[in-house]
Amino acid sequence: MTTDAVEYAERHTAHNYHPLPVVIADGEGAWVTDIDGKRYLDCLAGYSALNFGHRHPVLIEAAKAQLDRVTLTSRAFIHDQFGPFCEELAELCGKELVLPMNTGAEAVETAIKVARKWGYQVKGVPQNKAKIIVAENNFHGRTTTIISFSTDEDARADFGPYTPGFEIVPYGDLAALTAAIDENTVAVLLEPIQGESGVLVPPPGYLAGVRAVTSANNVLFLCDEIQSGLGRTGRNFAIEHTGVVPDMYLLGKALGGGVVPVSAVAANRDVLGVLKPGQHGSTFGGNPLACAVGRAVVGLLRTGEYQARAVDLGKQLHAGLEDLVGHGILAVRGQGLWAGIDIDPALMTGRQACEKLMDLGVLVKDTHGSTIRLAPPLVVTGDEIDLAVERLRTVLG
Ligand SMILES: Cc1ncc(COP(=O)(O)O)c(C=O)c1O
Repeated sequence: MTTDAVEYAERHTAHNYHPLPVVIADGEGAWVTDIDGKRYLDCLAGYSALNFGHRHPVLIEAAKAQLDRVTLTSRAFIHDQFGPFCEELAELCGKELVLPMNTGAEAVETAIKVARKWGYQVKGVPQNKAKIIVAENNFHGRTTTIISFSTDEDARADFGPYTPGFEIVPYGDLAALTAAIDENTVAVLLEPIQGESGVLVPPPGYLAGVRAVTSANNVLFLCDEIQSGLGRTGRNFAIEHTGVVPDMYLLGKALGGGVVPVSAVAANRDVLGVLKPGQHGSTFGGNPLACAVGRAVVGLLRTGEYQARAVDLGKQLHAGLEDLVGHGILAVRGQGLWAGIDIDPALMTGRQACEKLMDLGVLVKDTHGSTIRLAPPLVVTGDEIDLAVERLRTVLG
């Protein structure tokens, strides 16, 4: 029974999450089934890690084939999936090199280390003076360095002392960002759409302005596409909609196809080439299983099918949600199959909306009080999008 299983799941773990009381036993495509046999439309999709749905047959096949060959070598040796994965992902990104890691936070840490080393070795910044500019309300992960530049007190409080070397500016404010750049600034690190803070899309011209000002000042533009990238918004990268090409892409989540954790950074040789043996690494980063699944993910993205679905179904989703504005919803934001929805706090909290939706067989997750986020897998159908919107309409009364 679900109630027993919820209690059991909480009994022997730290309570660092507040999950909805659903205990999932199976998943296929856009749907999951709980231990009592009830089905739910998964409209969170592992925070975009499941862009291709649960157990996409191509990805499961790639994983199974690799399980039968070799799963781990460590980077002490080279394996036959590594070269092809790096080449194929680099090509997808339009960059010369990639460096695979595991979690999103590790990709962010990699980007920070590379930017600092580039600053000292290429830009000529004095030792220990490198500055990286980040945005208010960012979410880049949970390591001690990353939470050092978070503006979310829950993420930061009691985890100090904090890593220095970051300056926080308001998101979307080009003048503030420009004013923060000085001769020691090595990088600007941004999400092209802020996911965790409620799917916040920056004002038109902002990302192009960031590109112009970073280029003019010999500052790297590091674009965190860990949640926004790999098809979610209708392109490989959310920043592509603006025509901007950053110096580095940070990827994760969907890169592992919801099967294994795979992350990576992609950049040209003049940037990633600063790393030499012994200066960075990970036992599991770029392992054979990860590379095999990652190659299959890149293969799916090359078809363009998932990006096209995100565009078409995204229009349908946003049209449906716009209809609810003024009827229990204060605002809707987003792009492609990604929406941040501000529930009228007079009606209910985001958490209450999620619980009611769960009862009606739709899984979503709240963020920051009254906002809920919809990010269904890109394999969802039009009928399923309509179902999710209708269920939300019911919940809002
Ligand atoms: C934009 C962004 N960057 C980084 C991360 C961290 O990824 P991970 O949880 O895999 O460390 C997340 C996770 O939600 C994210 O949304």
